[in-house]
Amino acid sequence: MEKPNVAPSTALAYLDPHYWDERFSSEEHYEWFKDYSHFQHLIQPHINPNSSSSLLELGCGNSQLCDQLYNDGITQITCIDLSPVAVENTHKRLLAKNCKDIKVLVADMLDLPFSNESFDVVIEKGTMNILNLKDVLFVDSGDPWNPHPATVNKVMAMLEGVHRVLKPDGIFISISFGQPHFRRPLFEDPKFTWSIEWNTFGDGFHYFFYTLKKGRRSLVDHERCGEILEKPSICLFQEELDNEDFLFRTNVEELGS
Ligand SMILES: C[S@@+](CC[C@H](N)C(=O)[O-])C[C@H]1O[C@@H](n2cnc3c(N)ncnc32)[C@H](O)[C@@H]1O
Repeated sequence: MEKPNVAPSTALAYLDPHYWDERFSSEEHYEWFKDYSHFQHLIQPHINPNSSSSLLELGCGNSQLCDQLYNDGITQITCIDLSPVAVENTHKRLLAKNCKDIKVLVADMLDLPFSNESFDVVIEKGTMNILNLKDVLFVDSGDPWNPHPATVNKVMAMLEGVHRVLKPDGIFISISFGQPHFRRPLFEDPKFTWSIEWNTFGDGFHYFFYTLKKGRRSLVDHERCGEILEKPSICLFQEELDNEDFLFRTNVEELGS
């Protein structure tokens, strides 16, 4: 069967919730930033199969990450997405695969409808990138080192929510192409108690797998907050974009034309 063309005419469409509804009406499956098999070895040390471990996935889209985590023994999974179409399709797919314990809800990751300290693990793959897309594309702010204040507010609302719903020793996993020099200033805000580590995966272009452990921030981590991060040249940032998933690459070129 021919794959429907779901790429938007401009990357700014990714910021529009209607774009995602329309896309998910015709697209059955797409994995942003690689599928589970590429980072399974990085997740496994942090999950406790066949225990009562609870996991929240932010912005599941039509990814099959939750199915694969379920098959690896994580049975208490909740997935959220802002798109009702993504949620309905995911729900149907999971029922068909007999993964009916997984809960799938329409919810906004900027305003999480969960009580404090409800999850052992929160995971996002490619979803946080939607929030800072304007900065990634140099639209509005024009400078990735000085993100637009509205972007920072949204990212902080998301991170505060994640920190709040994590159990005292919970873990936030963020899978992204966002490099540590852009991510660390956000993750290291003094209001968060998590420690920060990252690994890379992927051939050629590397994706980042961030692990933030709540309640594990050390004095050294706090002192590092004041560090001035060495800025790479903008060429490096452009190189990062040039290697991005084809949708980003295509649309960056279109914006520049
Ligand atoms: C780039 S896709 C990533 C999808 C999936 N995580 C994957 O790895 O393939 C971003 C997803 O985030 C969802 N999304 C965007 N803004 C959101 C928000 N504020 N709250 C929850 N989901 C959101 C979109 O509907 C879309 O499904």
